[in-house]
Amino acid sequence: TLKRPNYRPLFHYAPAANWINDPNGLLYHRGLYHLYYQYNPHGDTHGNMNWGKATSPDLVHWKEHDVALPQHAHEIFSGSAVVDWRNTSGFGRDGMIPLVACYTGHTPHNQSQFLAYSLDDGERWTYHPEPVLDAQKTDFRDPKVFWHQPTEQWIMAIVHPVERQIELFGSPNLHDWTSLSVFGPVGATGGIWEVPELFSVVNEHGESHWVMKVDLNPGGPFGGSGVQYWLGEFDGVTFSARTPARWVDHGKDFYAAITFSGTPGRTVWLAWMNNWQYAQQVPTPGQRGTMSLPRVVTVQNDPEGPVLTQAPVPELTALRQQEENWSGEACLNLQAGQGHEFRLTWDGQDAATVRLKFISATGLEAIVEVREGILRLVRTATEHTKNLDGYAGEHLARWPEIAGMQDLHLFLDSSSLEVFGGGGRVVMTNLLYSNQPITEVEVQSIDTELNGQHWTLSLM
Ligand code: FRU
Repeated sequence: TLKRPNYRPLFHYAPAANWINDPNGLLYHRGLYHLYYQYNPHGDTHGNMNWGKATSPDLVHWKEHDVALPQHAHEIFSGSAVVDWRNTSGFGRDGMIPLVACYTGHTPHNQSQFLAYSLDDGERWTYHPEPVLDAQKTDFRDPKVFWHQPTEQWIMAIVHPVERQIELFGSPNLHDWTSLSVFGPVGATGGIWEVPELFSVVNEHGESHWVMKVDLNPGGPFGGSGVQYWLGEFDGVTFSARTPARWVDHGKDFYAAITFSGTPGRTVWLAWMNNWQYAQQVPTPGQRGTMSLPRVVTVQNDPEGPVLTQAPVPELTALRQQEENWSGEACLNLQAGQGHEFRLTWDGQDAATVRLKFISATGLEAIVEVREGILRLVRTATEHTKNLDGYAGEHLARWPEIAGMQDLHLFLDSSSLEVFGGGGRVVMTNLLYSNQPITEVEVQSIDTELNGQHWTLSLM
């Protein structure tokens, strides 16, 4: 057996120890990004759910804090948080603005929605004892709340997992909730639905779009869990989809994404970089679970209709150290113990093939290629992943037909590879537990000459 490489991420968030899953309560407030998350303080598999906590001034450098919402009469399942500027909740005192978290209190026979609040910008949280929404159901969870200015009320998207339905509720004060409408079942329904969100984005042309997203498990595009979305309209009561369901991510490891509340001018989200299919067996005993890179989410109006796009947050450029530029085929040596970012652009008129092979001392670990209108990512079986059902395999997505420059943007960390292509229209997020550290990348162009090409490699 090979000695296991160090899989601890260099530029992705993971706590020092133990298990994490979904991001929760994402919030930007007074210069700090708050990242709460499903956390088991006592082990490296799912259980004893609390909200763990990290904060960052820039979405890049994270600091871990003590548990924010400990388990008590129930486990603390997923949910969201808002700044209640007008003190609609009445939790504020002496002019202090409450942060309000809305989460699912989980017991084996009931999931209902509870509030907790903080009057010191998230340092200490107080539980509000009574549930604010109890449908007397075993599966009813993951409230995501936002302020809807046109109707001057809070809106909550919450999921009925077994029914594959998202219910929208409205409230003037975060305490009293009235049902507005039900969305689904529609789209992919091959697994239970989890972690819904309804949000609006404004793109650089000033056009606004509504996005409905929900995760499902199993039934994802390549087995295990996945995430789908619709674009459409929201009138304050009902979301009406104007597109079919599409996948948000064509990799295997992007789940339970939610957006940060309180980021005016842009929409940012991140996800748990994992798949329920094998999350509890990934080869990092003692600490399991990592967050994806934060991404700016927007919608572009393509000739074929509107489409969701994702781009790594621009703050990540602060990590760029040494850069290397080249064009044409190349064989690049990577530095062990460093993160790597690759940016490739080439002439969009060309039906060219680009292929990147990620190689370690023991051989080929992964392939990313654009060929014949398809983006393809291959993860090869490894010594340390052979017990992970569904790890090895190939992920495919249609490459968007866009005029002008084509682009690929990749982030390689110690145990992950994120790929953004076609102006962020196609994304693949994948854990990557290579046999040995990747020390070489071969960049190849096949079939045709690449024109106008420009490649940059940055150490991070
Ligand atoms: C999604 C999920 C949520 C739930 C939480 C429990 O991964 O199953 O539906 O609230 O994780 O940890």
